[in-house]
Amino acid sequence: MKKARVLLAVEGAPEAGGAPAVDFVRALAREHGIPELPAGYPPDAVEFLLRVNFTGPAEGLAMHSLREPKTGPVRVDFAAGTIQQRAKDDLRGQHLVRAVGTGVEVLDATAGLGRDAFLLASAGNRLHLLEREPAIYALLTDGLRRAAVDPDLASVVERMRLHCADFRDWSEAHRYDVVYLDPMFPRPEKRARGKKEMVFLQQLAGEGEESGLLAKALKCARARVVVKRPPKEACLDAAKPSFSYRGRVSRYDVYLP
Ligand SMILES: C[S@@+](CC[C@H](N)C(=O)[O-])C[C@H]1O[C@@H](n2cnc3c(N)ncnc32)[C@H](O)[C@@H]1O
Repeated sequence: MKKARVLLAVEGAPEAGGAPAVDFVRALAREHGIPELPAGYPPDAVEFLLRVNFTGPAEGLAMHSLREPKTGPVRVDFAAGTIQQRAKDDLRGQHLVRAVGTGVEVLDATAGLGRDAFLLASAGNRLHLLEREPAIYALLTDGLRRAAVDPDLASVVERMRLHCADFRDWSEAHRYDVVYLDPMFPRPEKRARGKKEMVFLQQLAGEGEESGLLAKALKCARARVVVKRPPKEACLDAAKPSFSYRGRVSRYDVYLP
C-alpha cells in the first residue's frame, strides 16, 4: 500500500460535547486533502496522525509521529507555559520584537506553529500568516480557534490572520510594513535532533527551497525584512543584512529595502 503521509484520526465520543469541534476539524481536513484514517488501516502505512481526541476536555488537534513515536505529540497551545512566559518577559526587549518593531503590519511568510507570530502579535503588531503545509496549517488553525475563545488570548489572536498558501505564489501586490521569514533551512542530521517541534516541522515540511524568498520579501516589504537564522548559519541567499540582532539561540538579520 502506498504510504500516506498524514491521516486524520477522530477518537472519543463527539456527542459528549465535542461535536462542533469534530465537525470543524473534519471540514478542515477535507478542505486541505488530509484523508481520515479508515477502520483497519495498517498502522505501518501511516507516518503521521493528526489526532483529535474528545474523550475528555477538548485539547484540540495533536500531531503524532508513528515513524518516531517517542517524539510525543505536538499541538499549538498559546496558553502553554513557555510561550506565555516569553510573552510576559520583557517582550519589547526580545531580539525578535526589536528586529521587527511594534505597532506595524507584519507578514509572517513561514508561519509554522505560529509561536513567533504570537509573540509579535502580543507586542501589538498586526500579523498575516502564511503556511503552505496543510497539516501544519490545520494544527495552527485549531490553536487559533481555541485561543479565540480564551479570554486571556482572544485580544492577541484577533490580530492574527492565517492563510494556507505558499509565499512563492503570494501576490506581490500585497504590501506590509515588515516581512518576517523563518524558513526551513537544510540542517545537518545532528542539529535536527533539537526540540520535538523542530523535528516535526522538519519532517512534515521538508527543508531547503529557501532561495528566492528574500527577493520576494523585499518586494512586499515597505520598511524591512527580518530573517531568523541560527546564530552561526550563513545569511539567507548569502545576502548581507543591513544589521543583525544576535542571541544565544537565534540571529535576526534585518534587510532594509
Ligand atoms: C521553521 S518553521 C517556522 C516556525 C515559526 N517561526 C514558529 O514560530 O513556529 C518554517 C515553516 O515555514 C513553512 N514554509 C516554508 N517555506 C514556505 C513558503 N514558501 N510559504 C509558506 N510557508 C512556508 C514550513 O512549512 C514550516 O512550517
